[in-house]
Amino acid sequence: MRIDIITCLPKLLESPFSHSILERAQKKGLVEVVVHDLRAYATTKSRQIDDYAFGGGAGMVMMIEPIDKCISALQSERKYDDVIYLTPDGATLNQQMANRMSLQKNLIMLCGHYKGVDERVREKFITKEVSIGDYVLSGGELAAAVLSDAIIRLLPGVLSDETSALTDSFQDHMLAPPVYTRPAEYKGLKVPEILTSGHAGKIEEWRYEKAMERTAERRPDLLKN
Ligand code: ADE
Repeated sequence: MRIDIITCLPKLLESPFSHSILERAQKKGLVEVVVHDLRAYATTKSRQIDDYAFGGGAGMVMMIEPIDKCISALQSERKYDDVIYLTPDGATLNQQMANRMSLQKNLIMLCGHYKGVDERVREKFITKEVSIGDYVLSGGELAAAVLSDAIIRLLPGVLSDETSALTDSFQDHMLAPPVYTRPAEYKGLKVPEILTSGHAGKIEEWRYEKAMERTAERRPDLLKN
């Protein structure tokens, strides 16, 4: 898979992709993440990428031309499955969306800033609009990092235990059950006995029960689906 991220703050995206699972996935060649500095596609001397909103009002709007140049350059090199715009008024990200996107080959993610992008960018180039939740971030970069992480960890070979992405919270509309590690007793706090019993079948049953209990208590809406 290849993910191209278009941003006016490329440095903001350096850290999320240079650690842990996302770093390893790239080193293993399972995903290529390419960050593009939108300013490199600006056409004015001052490298302008935003301007005042027609009709007035506070806040700047990202201009269409640099975005057109960047997306068109990418699309002339390969076919993209989706051009995603990260925006608070997009469809709210969930596990099913991440699952579906993890099956794609090439994705572009456009990070918004200021008051957002010129609406004509959305009409002409964007095929999917994604929000990571009902709150407003300063820009789309962190949202693009969240979306990329949710996708990349699902790619075959990225997680060392192949089954572990499948047992994540939300994968079967349920939250994950509680987990424990050594010591079996800490300051009087004991690990549930069943987990140290060695009964694989009973442990599986217990986990299912606990996942059910936790989901019913915290996210009953998930069980309705
Ligand atoms: N940009 C600003 N806020 C955002 C959000 N909640 N999701 C995606 N992109 C955003």
